[in-house]
Amino acid sequence: ALSAEYLRALPKAEVHCHLEGCVPPGLGVRLARRYGVPLPAAAVENGRYNFSCFEDGLAIYVALSKAMRTASDFEEVTYASLMSAAEGGLRYREYSFNPQNHPDLTYSEMLRGILAGASAAQKDAGSITRVVVAINRELGGAAGLALVREVIEHPQELVVGIGLDHHELAARPSEFVAAYDLAREAGLGLAAHAGERGDPSEVAECLDLLRVDRVDHGYAVLLEPPLLSRTVASQVPFSACWTVENPPSEVAGRLRDVSDMAAAGLNICLNSDDPALIGAELDECMIDAARHLDWTIEDAEKYSLAGLDACFADAGTVERLR
Ligand code: ADE
Ligand code: ZN
Repeated sequence: ALSAEYLRALPKAEVHCHLEGCVPPGLGVRLARRYGVPLPAAAVENGRYNFSCFEDGLAIYVALSKAMRTASDFEEVTYASLMSAAEGGLRYREYSFNPQNHPDLTYSEMLRGILAGASAAQKDAGSITRVVVAINRELGGAAGLALVREVIEHPQELVVGIGLDHHELAARPSEFVAAYDLAREAGLGLAAHAGERGDPSEVAECLDLLRVDRVDHGYAVLLEPPLLSRTVASQVPFSACWTVENPPSEVAGRLRDVSDMAAAGLNICLNSDDPALIGAELDECMIDAARHLDWTIEDAEKYSLAGLDACFADAGTVERLR
């Protein structure tokens, strides 16, 4: 078996990581207190986030979002999580964040905070950061389109794409066609969460209607052979996530899905999704994956920077990271 030390030292890249899922538990409790935002009951126990199903995890995520209210909160979360990830070899991260979850400050203020945290982490740890602006699908298509307009009105080098997240069963991808068309015209990369909770048709709609460049999660393709063959043939990237232990109810199914996706020949990379919430940075996800999937050195080398094939950074930046 590959040693944890070797795996930790490998340079890593990830494209599927939510900023609001990167608030260390201690900082989350402090911010929530400062602003009087209630966290769900027993959300933090023994210094870790505590939840037993996806919906409860998302409720903590939404509460943490409400507790990030100033540019300096954004900077603190960005810097702390990048420095923690860099200890595990992270060289490149594409953060998603949900501007719609933070009504108390402007889009420009949020970006100012992320940029400050990312620049400090680049200086102190050498890691490179880019940003994907994620549409909260629960708020519907019109709000999603308004958000993309705002992104385009405030161009910022850090922002390389758009995404679509929150509860998959809350809205169909078809509601977001106008938002994705506008983002594509503006040259932004297009990602969307699909096939995480929902069925294969969610993934098909993201490919056919939203014409995404990358599918976040996507496990449901395993359930429909024609869709599976098609995505193996196209090699569209899937940003799969390795769930180490939180929530416990998800772990077994998720591990099986990710191994089946790899075995089927899909173009997948591994990601931490919500590292603080889940309690595992990418290095810990990879150590766990290597153990379960019995990785060889070649596997480890292939997966460590596989995120670069799925990322939206410019070619020169990607070249420097390889
Ligand atoms: N927001 C944060 N993590 C998420 C996930 N795994 N699925 C959907 N929305 C999310
Ligand atoms: Zn996600």
